[in-house]
Amino acid sequence: MELKITVVAGDGIGPEVTREAVEILSTVAHLNGHKFTFVEERIGGVAIRQDGSPLPARTLAAALDSDAVLLGAVGGNEFNALPPDKRPEAGLLQLRQALGGYANLRPAVAYEPLSHNSPLRPEVTRGADILFVRELLGGLYFSQPRAWDRDAGMALNTMRYTRAEVVRVARVAFDLASKRRGKVTSVDKANVLEVSQLWRATVTEVAAEYPGVTIDHQYVDACAMHLMNTPRNFDVVLTENLFGDILSDEAAVITGSLGMLPSATIGGKVNLYEPVHGSAPDIAGTGKANPLGAILTAAMILRHSAGLEQDARAIEDAVANVLQRGYRTADLVRAGTHGEQPVTTREMGRLVYEALNEIIDRAQALHAV
Ligand code: IPM
Ligand code: MG
Repeated sequence: MELKITVVAGDGIGPEVTREAVEILSTVAHLNGHKFTFVEERIGGVAIRQDGSPLPARTLAAALDSDAVLLGAVGGNEFNALPPDKRPEAGLLQLRQALGGYANLRPAVAYEPLSHNSPLRPEVTRGADILFVRELLGGLYFSQPRAWDRDAGMALNTMRYTRAEVVRVARVAFDLASKRRGKVTSVDKANVLEVSQLWRATVTEVAAEYPGVTIDHQYVDACAMHLMNTPRNFDVVLTENLFGDILSDEAAVITGSLGMLPSATIGGKVNLYEPVHGSAPDIAGTGKANPLGAILTAAMILRHSAGLEQDARAIEDAVANVLQRGYRTADLVRAGTHGEQPVTTREMGRLVYEALNEIIDRAQALHAV
């Protein structure tokens, strides 16, 4: 299997966590005879500083010319005063739009033993395994008109969806649910917003194509509460762009840390892979960053861009194994509670690497018998 991956590590902890993900991908390639090539390009704040643009033309060209794009994180405090279109985040949003993926998959899994850092009780989170399908190219993020009229003291954003945009992302959610536990929860604000009424009516139509999948509609405010009260009741959560942004950060509480969540954006010309967390400039360079979100994102590359389901599973099993043995980065340890010494970013990467080697060795030994 050959795969050309554009790596845009970006800002803050982006390069640190991306490095571990690339190492894991190289390990899989080495052990299983695949050829993965990595092309490094700039995006975000680092690109603003060096190239004068958050998405330089050569980065975009490289991304479009690859089989998958792996992104670390973008953003930094020095850009906080800039308008949206000049910020590092604009580079990411332009890249998302250019690559064209509209379905952003964000799994949130409560790994055992449950993180000390989750404020939720173990009996609430145990066994939770949710897949968010966040619409990524519409809604408030991209719809026109948008404006900030400083003189008039007025600003405006628009939440617009077409039926076709809802149909295509809904089908992704139902397809995935039919291979999981067969349940879609569609999240909207149909008691207030016309755009949500269109969303709900369209999702209801698509649901009729999938008799084996049950559909449940929730208002976003209620969903935010149910996610914390009864996370196990969710299988696939289908929602629009901003609601998905908010709810997926909330769901990180179930896993113990935002550093645990991976994501894959599919449906466009080239799939885009990024951990859900941001650039965390406060801990950049300290070895505190959790690389597991990025490493689990690497597994999603193998699943969704290479059809290497077994290798994707091997990475996920390696992560589960390392956590099972009690290793945790600082974000997963609640300060002062268990007297544990957290491992660094590099140590965590190394532990996953070792576990992965063993898992693949064992699989190959079985195969050889
Ligand atoms: C995310 C992030 C991005 C988003 C930002 C960095 C633009 O929060 O991927 O969840 O809002 O989509
Ligand atoms: Mg977000």
